[in-house]
Amino acid sequence: MKNTISVKHLTKIYQKIKAVDNLSFDVREGEILGLLGPNGSGKSTTINCILSLLKYDKGEIKIFDQPMSPDAYEIKRQIGVVFQDVAVFEELNVYDNIDFFCGLYIKDKAERAKCVEDAIKLVGLQDFRKFYPKQLSGGLLRRLNIACGIAHKPKLIFLDEPTVAVDPQSRNHILENIETLRKRGATVVYTTHYMEEAEQLCDRIIIIDKGKIIASGTPTELKKLVKNKPIKEVSGPTLNDVFLELTGKDLRD
Ligand SMILES: Nc1ncnc2c1ncn2[C@@H]1O[C@H](COP(=O)(O)OP(=O)(O)OP(=O)(O)O)[C@@H](O)[C@H]1O
Ligand SMILES: [Mg+2]
Repeated sequence: MKNTISVKHLTKIYQKIKAVDNLSFDVREGEILGLLGPNGSGKSTTINCILSLLKYDKGEIKIFDQPMSPDAYEIKRQIGVVFQDVAVFEELNVYDNIDFFCGLYIKDKAERAKCVEDAIKLVGLQDFRKFYPKQLSGGLLRRLNIACGIAHKPKLIFLDEPTVAVDPQSRNHILENIETLRKRGATVVYTTHYMEEAEQLCDRIIIIDKGKIIASGTPTELKKLVKNKPIKEVSGPTLNDVFLELTGKDLRD
């Protein structure tokens, strides 16, 4: 299987904190890869280094088999990013926000209008086209943030904790959207500290703590790492049990 991303020995130090500590991993074409870890474990820093938004101290990053760099525009055109903090324009309504971000990639008006409509439908904002961000609930705002990041139909999508502070209904909606994007052929990198989400959505999961990979594998493979709870039990191990087993800490703390 082809790798869409290859990360080798990535290290990022902020003053004294080693936020990312010698991380190496691949993201395979067409998969949803989860980066799972508690607050401050280095998930966002890893993503921002991969995207060349942050300078790093050591490491080699390739995307689509090409070295990634701040001026790798051909690669960047095929990437969509949904940042952890919602980043939309208060002055623009839902449609115009999506149109603005999509317009950074797609100049043709008719093609762009179709992409914007597709994104609105995907995230279920059909009834809110004319609403301004201030008029949207937290969950709807998150959906707008996602639509802005993916409207140009990128081949590779990064979603950094897109479901924080949304109700279960909106969360399920967002997870279904991501599944749909993958079905359309996108490769997805998804960060979260919710183990149930990672388990439900991801093909493979990398668990990180203090900038280091502590385990990786499919959800089932990871659960086998928990020794005292057989996997066939009805209430078998959760990914939190995996984290607890490997670090002695509770991911929910
Ligand atoms: N700009 C910065 N300057 C200094 N330290 C930083 C900076 N950004 C992040 N850090 C530190 O780097 C570490 C990793 O942070 P990062 O934001 O990557 O974690 P995270 O896993 O995304 O956390 P969260 O789940 O809270 O979003 C933390 O210790 C954080 O305090
Ligand atoms: Mg983060």
